[in-house]
Amino acid sequence: MNPKGPEHMPQPPEIMEPAAMKELLKRRAAAVELWLATCLDGREMPPRLRESMLYSLQAGGKRLRPVLCLTCVALCGLEEERVMPFAGAIEMIHTYSLIHDDLPAMDDDDLRRGKPSNHKAFDEATAILAGDGLLTDAFACMCRARIAAGPLLAAIAELAGAAGSSGMVGGQEWDMIHTGRPSVNLGELQTMHAMKTGALLRASCVCGALLAEANSAVVDAIGEYGSALGMAFQIADDILDITADTAVLGKPAGSDAAQGKNTYPSMVGLAASRELARAQADRARAALGALVGPEAAFLRALADYTVSRAC
Ligand code: IPE
Ligand code: IPE
Ligand code: MG
Ligand code: MG
Ligand code: MG
Repeated sequence: MNPKGPEHMPQPPEIMEPAAMKELLKRRAAAVELWLATCLDGREMPPRLRESMLYSLQAGGKRLRPVLCLTCVALCGLEEERVMPFAGAIEMIHTYSLIHDDLPAMDDDDLRRGKPSNHKAFDEATAILAGDGLLTDAFACMCRARIAAGPLLAAIAELAGAAGSSGMVGGQEWDMIHTGRPSVNLGELQTMHAMKTGALLRASCVCGALLAEANSAVVDAIGEYGSALGMAFQIADDILDITADTAVLGKPAGSDAAQGKNTYPSMVGLAASRELARAQADRARAALGALVGPEAAFLRALADYTVSRAC
């Protein structure tokens, strides 16, 4: 018998069904898109550069990173609207990374988010500059979040670290170094994934907690969730490159094998990759530990979606 009685028994975490998760993801993504449509307003720039930046920003996409940031803000008890310029800025950084990732010097992919890649719709120089513009302007946007200077600066530092040379940019360099090299080991692959994809997904979550001034135990739990989600996400991306159709993916299927990329499926096969992705999604769910309520339930459902998604 539990001496404290049944009302004090630990409650199982609340469950959010996939349909409710998709609805909330859609609602938050729509709010992000409204903000993205205005994020360049008031900036003087060559019209072609503006067109190129907006082309990629408004081509669609799951908007997962800003949604994670908004969700972690809400989970930690702050109103989402106050951090929209910060969450939207994360999507600007993500979009720049996709424009540069598709360039002929990198993955040389001609399709992104169901449309010609930025360098195909415009030209290489404009695509490089559109990426540069999105990255730099993102930091100006972040500073507009209605948050006190201390937590805002902490979040900006976190995001800069995750996007830069020891995070996403460094991971992209490892990706290029490893391309076509059959001797890459699983540890090197894991480091590359954690940096090129895990770092920004983790920071999207952690920044939400930092902006809401959550305590360090909650920041750590959310960080662990984001790291695991990031690994699950990139393994799933590698799997989809093999199993999904270009029309559904919105980017060229089979590109990894064509480029000689080292991926989880190329190294351990599809079945083991699926198991590893599932294990990381489970690790993400478990990392949330005692966090309860609808936002934690949404994060748990998002971890499942990361590995079950079709694109
Ligand atoms: C693609 O990211 C690049 C990776 C890190 C695997 P997403 O799959 O989130 O791309 P969008 O934003 O939905 O287009
Ligand atoms: C890219 O990984 C990760 C980024 C930082 C952009 P991929 O090269 O696998 O992403 P996709 O498949 O082109 O979206
Ligand atoms: Mg790439
Ligand atoms: Mg790519
Ligand atoms: Mg990929």
